[in-house]
Amino acid sequence: MIVESSPARTRELVREHRRGGQHIAVVPTMGALHAGHVSLIEAAREECDCVVATIFVNPTQFAPGEDFEKYPRTLEDDLARCEAAGADLVFTPQTSAMYADDAQTTVVVSELTKVLEGAHRPSHFDGVTTVVAKLFHITEPDRAYFGQKDFQQQLIIRQMVGDLDFGLQIVTCPIIREPDGLAMSSRNRYLSASQRRQSLALHQALTRADELAREGASAGDIQQEMRQILGTAPGVKPDYAVVVDATTLLEPAGDQKTVVALVAARVGDTRLIDNQILQLR
Ligand code: PAF
Repeated sequence: MIVESSPARTRELVREHRRGGQHIAVVPTMGALHAGHVSLIEAAREECDCVVATIFVNPTQFAPGEDFEKYPRTLEDDLARCEAAGADLVFTPQTSAMYADDAQTTVVVSELTKVLEGAHRPSHFDGVTTVVAKLFHITEPDRAYFGQKDFQQQLIIRQMVGDLDFGLQIVTCPIIREPDGLAMSSRNRYLSASQRRQSLALHQALTRADELAREGASAGDIQQEMRQILGTAPGVKPDYAVVVDATTLLEPAGDQKTVVALVAARVGDTRLIDNQILQLR
């Protein structure tokens, strides 16, 4: 496995693989890798010839006061995980190599970014789409792998890729959970033992949502029940709990069967998100 921090050299290395007729996968990450990231690299390894992982804690997707400074940086452990999962190349740029002082361009997806995470973290997704567009230009992949846990992020990136003709396929991989159901996240390591227990309320709300969907409940009733669970869970401050159309993130039409339940909440200072696709009856 090669580790490279230069964008130009990374592009050149990837092009060498492409000239050999290989299909290229990219797995963009901010490091602090866990089993969820590993599952993305493994899926890419199965489906493509050359697997590029990127590790870059992107400053432009954090607002002032968010956790950019304290975001876990665990490069040595991350590289070991990338290698074990089968990555061929890991791109680890410095901020100065990604953002020139005189840069003037931002990639903005206009509508999908207005709701949910976008409403609670204004400008977050502009940072995400801009850095992901740059990572796509540097690595020129055939396929890019993202986790379903960041449901809105993968939808927004799909929209960007379609709108701007990137000519690559977005693959969304399932959420990987701890044995007790907590969705894996790099931010879980901020949680104390008691907060860790309290965080299970997110998964409990989604599990109940799934049960209710199977019993034939409406989107509105499921949403209400999730809010009740999260609103009364000790130590949990919900930001939102919604059941929405899984492609527009808007209120589902009356006859819609496939929807997504999305939750976000603070436990202590840690903001957690989770989601579950539901089949309404
Ligand atoms: O999901 C993440 O880790 C980040 O938002 C991403 C896609 C790597 C962009 O910085």
